Amino acid sequence: MKIETEAERADTLSALLSGRFPDERGRYGPFGGRYVPETLIPAHERLERGVRRWLADREFCAELERELHDWVGRPTALSPAPHLSRRWAARVWLKREDLAHTGAHKINNAIGQALLARRLGARRIVAETGAGQHGVASAAACARVGLPCTVYMGELDMERQAPNVGRMKLLGAKVVPVTSGDRTLRAAIDEALRDWVGDPNGTYYLLGSAVGGHPYPYLVRELQSVIGREARAQIQEKAGGLPDAVFACVGGGSNAIGLFHPFLGDESVEIIGVEAGGRSAGLGDNAASLVSGRPGVLHGSYSYLLQNEDGQIQETHSISAGLDYPGVGPEHSLLRALGRVRYVSASDAEALEAVKECCECEGILPALESAHALAAAKLWAAEHPAGKILIGLSGRGDKDMPTLAQTLLAPGAETAPSASGKWRAPGLSAAKARST
Ligand SMILES: Cc1ncc(COP(=O)(O)O)c(C=O)c1O
Repeated sequence: MKIETEAERADTLSALLSGRFPDERGRYGPFGGRYVPETLIPAHERLERGVRRWLADREFCAELERELHDWVGRPTALSPAPHLSRRWAARVWLKREDLAHTGAHKINNAIGQALLARRLGARRIVAETGAGQHGVASAAACARVGLPCTVYMGELDMERQAPNVGRMKLLGAKVVPVTSGDRTLRAAIDEALRDWVGDPNGTYYLLGSAVGGHPYPYLVRELQSVIGREARAQIQEKAGGLPDAVFACVGGGSNAIGLFHPFLGDESVEIIGVEAGGRSAGLGDNAASLVSGRPGVLHGSYSYLLQNEDGQIQETHSISAGLDYPGVGPEHSLLRALGRVRYVSASDAEALEAVKECCECEGILPALESAHALAAAKLWAAEHPAGKILIGLSGRGDKDMPTLAQTLLAPGAETAPSASGKWRAPGLSAAKARST
């Protein structure tokens, strides 16, 4: 499928809005699909049948809704941000996924898939994690539904997200360090897939973002869309109408697609996904697949990737472990091609500055991932006076204390932004060096 002319773009957007993606081949226009090892095809097909059956089952949906309400703590709040609003000369609203059980949006997907795995007769769960939030959410959800859980985590991420490793263990999960490859999320996904290949019938792979072979991007989007449905209703009720712009950070893309999806048909709403700009725009220095990448195949689907001229996937860098991934979900690639969502990046330094500003102004410590969305929203606000802005605060920053200790809290770090307005953190180069 080509999306080159304006007419093709308009047709594809209307197909998207009428719910025709993913199509029967699991594609979102030219993106998506199912590029997985032969041994995993039956497991994906079984999962696809399960998704079709159980997501339409009234009893299953009622159970999921009960768990989201009673255990996860939904609906999460939509908080006005009066002090950021004053500083930015805007009207800022924060969708508080940091207040969900376990501290991030990842739990919406984890509990949904854990309930599904039980219906599908799984005996054990494997999961991967980058920032540890999906690992913690999976461990908690597995404890809740009574299934054993193994989480693969890159060695480097175990270091920079140390608080989450202990949480996973306390919640009963086995945490397996991954020492191969880039020792971050990409290598962890490779290992989880390898584990799944060993027992595709008894093991359920609880994938943590809107990536992977069909039907995972669809399944994760459906489970995360609760964020956007709630936010859309809340902002209309509390702020008297739709926002002018919606922002979310994009790693694999699950919190973003969940927030964006219910707004896609609202023409007046500008939608902006924010990737990790890292330390520079150079290949290897960031994790901005949609901003700087080209389409290719990774982890089961065709989507934008950071690769060199020979198609070799590149190592990435971001101060936030959860955004440190060379690929992105296929639906985001389609949204980029259609121009319905604009994708930008925020640098490590901008994200740190946003953490500091959000803490000081609103009394909220955001995750480093979420801080990328705050940073881009601030820039947008400068060009759109009095604009009404909805920002997805995907998680809380407690997990980032090891990185923050080396940067914002490092001895000698300034206690106020520099004259240029940019945070100058002496430990930033150390934190970056550790994550390369
Ligand atoms: C708090 C938080 N936000 C965002 C992300 C990025 O993931 P995704 O793009 O799937 O929402 C992560 C990943 O671990 C995370 O922990």
